[in-house]
Amino acid sequence: MTSRFSALVPDFLETLVPYQAGKPIAEVQREYGLERVIKLASNENPLGASPLALAAVQEALSQVSRYPDAAARDLRGILAQRYRLSTENVIVGNGSEGIMACIVRAFLHGADEVITARGTFMGFTVLCRTRGIEPIMVALKDYRFDLEAMADQITPRTKLIYLCNPNNPTGTIFTRDEFDRFMARVPERVLVILDEAYYEFASHRLDFPDSMDYRHDNVITLRTFSKAYGLAGFRVGYGFGHDHLIRHLWKVKLPFEPAVLGQRAGIAALGDSEFLKRTVELTHSGLDYLYGELERMGLFHVRSVANFVLVRLSSREEVQHVFQKLLERGLIVRPLTQYSMADCLRITVGLPEENELCMRALRQVLTNEKAP
Ligand SMILES: Cc1ncc(COP(=O)(O)O)c(C=O)c1O
Repeated sequence: MTSRFSALVPDFLETLVPYQAGKPIAEVQREYGLERVIKLASNENPLGASPLALAAVQEALSQVSRYPDAAARDLRGILAQRYRLSTENVIVGNGSEGIMACIVRAFLHGADEVITARGTFMGFTVLCRTRGIEPIMVALKDYRFDLEAMADQITPRTKLIYLCNPNNPTGTIFTRDEFDRFMARVPERVLVILDEAYYEFASHRLDFPDSMDYRHDNVITLRTFSKAYGLAGFRVGYGFGHDHLIRHLWKVKLPFEPAVLGQRAGIAALGDSEFLKRTVELTHSGLDYLYGELERMGLFHVRSVANFVLVRLSSREEVQHVFQKLLERGLIVRPLTQYSMADCLRITVGLPEENELCMRALRQVLTNEKAP
């Protein structure tokens, strides 16, 4: 669609499809006249937020007339201490995606080449497209990052490689061995984003390459309070990297993110190991339950090291049909059309009752009603 302002808008923006978020609960309630709607579409925490974080937020409410500490010293200090880094190695922002946006703004321009996977977090690709850069998208292999094929794509123009481990939306990981072999092939001049938004669900795996155990100066690790800590609505994420890289991110970041309450919530959540433990246990038992049910229904699914599971149906049409019928029953899941996996759905692990309702509804939709 062109408008009288078309001359203002670069072509790449005119054609850019924005990131499509999961459908909000209130919208589905309104559209379908439903009282109860269960959202299993955005990998949020079904337990809510850490009670310690909520208490800290209550206490901090009196300070909201003040701007936050622009350097977020307390939150960064605690993160630095936990990972035995200097605060200069730590950045915080409006969600890990806020920091990803800073990385893209700071380092990408013109004819830079970027490598990512076809079948990983779309938010990153959308950010590249806002700079007029179309990333090279390497196919996944068996629903996993194919790091060798990604390394094959490196050229003298390659500026940045995006890795997501565990991967959203497949829930798979690449291993330490695979990561070591990959990094041996990446020149130091190439920046690697290691997106570990689901780190807390995978850290028990001995073969998981926890990026904080490595010291690659060209890697920026991104993590978030949105998933395991249950603070998605506060928009707090953090990144670790070499101070020579991190200091440039401060130049392009908006000065006062995250907001006062987000910073306080993050600090308190880091101290709530009990809540984190409960979240991870609930997720693992929820995954086991979902696998059992999906197997009984004969549905192909991918074993996950995150808080969601990818389910493959027979076709794009069946996915759309199932998505729609689940919505009508008050269940929001995520079709993976935008992720180039149009025959797949992603289901976030919910509370046990939510998982049961979802599996029951899925069974009903698949057995009673065939796709048109
Ligand atoms: C892999 C991945 N990275 C980043 C994000 C963004 O998270 P945040 O809420 O920290 O911006 C998400 C959110 O779904 C994600 O799945």
